[in-house]
Amino acid sequence: MRVSGLIRLSALLFALVALWIFLRNSSSFSRKTIRLPRWLAGKAPPELRVEKNKCGLSKPCPDNFFAFKICSGAANVVGPSMCFENEIIMSPVKNNVGRGLNIAVVNGSTGHVLRQGSFDMYSGDPKLLEKFLVEIPEGVLVLVASYDDPGTKMNDEIRKLFSKLGSVYATNLGFRDSWVFLGARDLKNKSPFEQFLKNSPDTNKYEGWPELLELEGCVPRKVF
Ligand SMILES: *[C@@H]1O[C@H](CO)[C@@H](O)[C@H](O)[C@H]1NC(C)=O
Repeated sequence: MRVSGLIRLSALLFALVALWIFLRNSSSFSRKTIRLPRWLAGKAPPELRVEKNKCGLSKPCPDNFFAFKICSGAANVVGPSMCFENEIIMSPVKNNVGRGLNIAVVNGSTGHVLRQGSFDMYSGDPKLLEKFLVEIPEGVLVLVASYDDPGTKMNDEIRKLFSKLGSVYATNLGFRDSWVFLGARDLKNKSPFEQFLKNSPDTNKYEGWPELLELEGCVPRKVF
């Protein structure tokens, strides 16, 4: 009698504890549900958050500067992207990037996109890129992002044309290197906006490719 009473008592206690845990969980669950709209309005999850600064920069650019962000491709898997004044000019989602070199030309005073092109530097015709670079007019900014392999079809003429836009590393660009660059035709010195990583088995982040590169900043608007 006493033993079964004890069992019944502990069964009752167990049921009470279970009920208490259930109620506690469900009440905190319902509290979360009620709080959701406020939480959404206050601090939205990243995919819903509106970027505070153009191109998602950590600091806003001063007046008369353009905000930009250039990302190279990741290995041969994720394509590169370019943002300029909050406009995504080239990206995998826009479906206008490709293996090799991806280049956008914007008007240096208005920021309007003038031309863009993707040049296969692994098996494409380098003459196409030569022609594109020769035709770049005065007063523009040139944004460049590599993807997979920017180097195989590289030649001296193309290296020279990129150097004239202010690049330091174009002379060195080779098979599967990572490269991001912003230059201009009428620069007096080398561009401060450039990053480069050599493809090297010792330092590669991915098997066969170096890490992707990100370049962001504020570039002065050309005022005439
Ligand atoms: C850039 O825009 C300015 C102002 O509209 C214009 O005068 C200039 O010709 C443009 N430059 C190029 C290269 O399109």
